[in-house]
Amino acid sequence: MPRVHRSVREWGAERAALDAKPRSIGFVPTMGALHAGHRSLLERARAQNECVVMSIFVNPTQFDNPGDLAGYPRTLEADLAFADGLVDHVLVPEAGDIYPEGYRFRVTESDFSRQLEGAHRPGHFDGVLTVVLKLLNLVRPHRAYFGEKDRQQLELVRDMVRALFLPVEIIPCPTVRDPDGLALSSRNRRLSPAARARAASFPRILRESAGPAEARAALGLAGFGVDYVEDRGGVRLAAIRLEEVRLIDNVRP
Ligand code: PAF
Repeated sequence: MPRVHRSVREWGAERAALDAKPRSIGFVPTMGALHAGHRSLLERARAQNECVVMSIFVNPTQFDNPGDLAGYPRTLEADLAFADGLVDHVLVPEAGDIYPEGYRFRVTESDFSRQLEGAHRPGHFDGVLTVVLKLLNLVRPHRAYFGEKDRQQLELVRDMVRALFLPVEIIPCPTVRDPDGLALSSRNRRLSPAARARAASFPRILRESAGPAEARAALGLAGFGVDYVEDRGGVRLAAIRLEEVRLIDNVRP
């Protein structure tokens, strides 16, 4: 089983000990509820580094909707078993330990973070970038792994790392999909079986539509609430709602 560190102080002592025998450190930040998408990040980290650190932290500052935060799946014991053999250290901090200053200091990006996801979830990316910066400073990894499913998050993290000269390599990892095409997400488990079956048409419609307007219309006809569909740099990004669950995806049409 991986070693679990529940406080920033305790982890700090461990991290200092790791410095004594320099080894490459790979870091996978997560909010838990691990699935095969996370597994692919962990396997990549395992293959490229001598030591793998994972964090499990449901970050309150990136939730714009209190219901979404309260309903976010928390499955710590299963997550630890899942990580067994892939991860050396798991950081499971409390919110008060990550935000001792009460979120007085935060990273604000003033352009891309306000578009797409950011236009529908005010403050979301400030919360993401702030917690990622804090976690990178705590873990001090050589490489950090992010899924392409959250493409806007991945690009913003990459941009932050460049802008702030952070000494870490950001490694993008391809989206993992169920056999019917739906991108894996911790949120999928909140769908009823009927909605889960319908959700498979989301990536298919994105891929097969001639343009964003056609995709938006087809998604509406399929019964989804559509937050956005936009093409950027050869990638089609979208967010939909069904049964109060919000799903995002991106494809190359
Ligand atoms: O993608 C996620 O799970 C989260 O946004 C992250 C990167 C762990 C930050 O809380």
